[in-house]
Amino acid sequence: MPSRERTVATFRAAIRRMSPYVPGEQPRAGTRLIKLNTNENPYPPSPRTRRALADGADLLRLYPAPHADDLVAEAARLYRVPREMIIAGNGSDELLAMIFRAVLDPGDRVAYPTPTYSLYDTLAEIEEARVVRVPWCEDFSLPLDKLARARARLTIVCSPNSPSGTWTPSPRLAALASRIAPRLLVIDEAYVDFAAGHALDLARRHHNVIVLRSLSKSFSLAGMRLGLGFAQPEIIEQLIKVKDSYNLSRIAIAVGAQALRDAAWMRRNVERVVATRARTEANLRKLGFEVPPSQANFVMARMPGRDLAPLVGDLRKRGILVRYFATPGLRDAMRISIGTPTEMSALIDALRSLMASRDSKRELKRRR
Ligand SMILES: Cc1ncc(COP(=O)(O)O)c(C=O)c1O
Repeated sequence: MPSRERTVATFRAAIRRMSPYVPGEQPRAGTRLIKLNTNENPYPPSPRTRRALADGADLLRLYPAPHADDLVAEAARLYRVPREMIIAGNGSDELLAMIFRAVLDPGDRVAYPTPTYSLYDTLAEIEEARVVRVPWCEDFSLPLDKLARARARLTIVCSPNSPSGTWTPSPRLAALASRIAPRLLVIDEAYVDFAAGHALDLARRHHNVIVLRSLSKSFSLAGMRLGLGFAQPEIIEQLIKVKDSYNLSRIAIAVGAQALRDAAWMRRNVERVVATRARTEANLRKLGFEVPPSQANFVMARMPGRDLAPLVGDLRKRGILVRYFATPGLRDAMRISIGTPTEMSALIDALRSLMASRDSKRELKRRR
């Protein structure tokens, strides 16, 4: 065996076998595209965060606070949760990775309703965990019984869910938490600020619930990488053991703390996104798409039975990026992030003209 291959062979078999997680396309800075593929906020973060960033250079000489104290203190104040119940992550992705690492031994079961955030599959592969995929009910409501019967060591519910945009009301999540206790329930609330309700209270009331939040979407801080986890202190203590010692930079801690101090700014932007979402849903339905009612900052548009890859490719040629998932069950769908009203009008106009030209091509073919 050549020496390069011998070196690769020293990696764990599970890692050699697996494919990496595929994030949505991130075009190079300066590329003029309407970017509706990775659920970023179209509006800027609070001016307070800019000031924190501008002062950031003075912070760089020293290591950060290992437990992101200033950020955790602001989160405790904003969400009225004791500090011992909060852990900060380098994005909520990092918190998910910590949970998988801390909870799952090879062969353990992890269950979640599908389709959902595909990073869960990647994290399960790394830990060599067995995934129990439980399809959402037809209307994207929670398959509670089936999830409970999976008897998984870790259950995850993404609410609002990606890519469907649909959500699970808190009482259903509470019922699931009680059914599966003492096993863990993670509620991934990355998009919850765009929803009509949340389940943070369950982290206070249930000893087996972890609620995850992200500052990437509603707070417009995807580039800073900031996430928060809420759970009982005993759970937080376990997670801290698997965390990188300095997982957040000093700049991220300072910027995140300022963002949380200005939650009113975030809420104003969320209101704008929610208003644009309602118009986008209506316009997509007029064009013939099936759109489940979204509680997130994106919508899923579906043409049952029709592969949308060519349409998504044509949108790309017109400078509009949306997310296509080349996986069974999702090929007839695209996930569209909510941008500014102008961006969404451009999307709807492009779809209208692409679909009209497709229909006329089909009609020509039929006549020939
Ligand atoms: C459902 C879900 N959870 C978590 C995340 C991770 O968010 P972040 O790591 O930016 O906080 C994402 C990002 O797209 C997501 O879609």
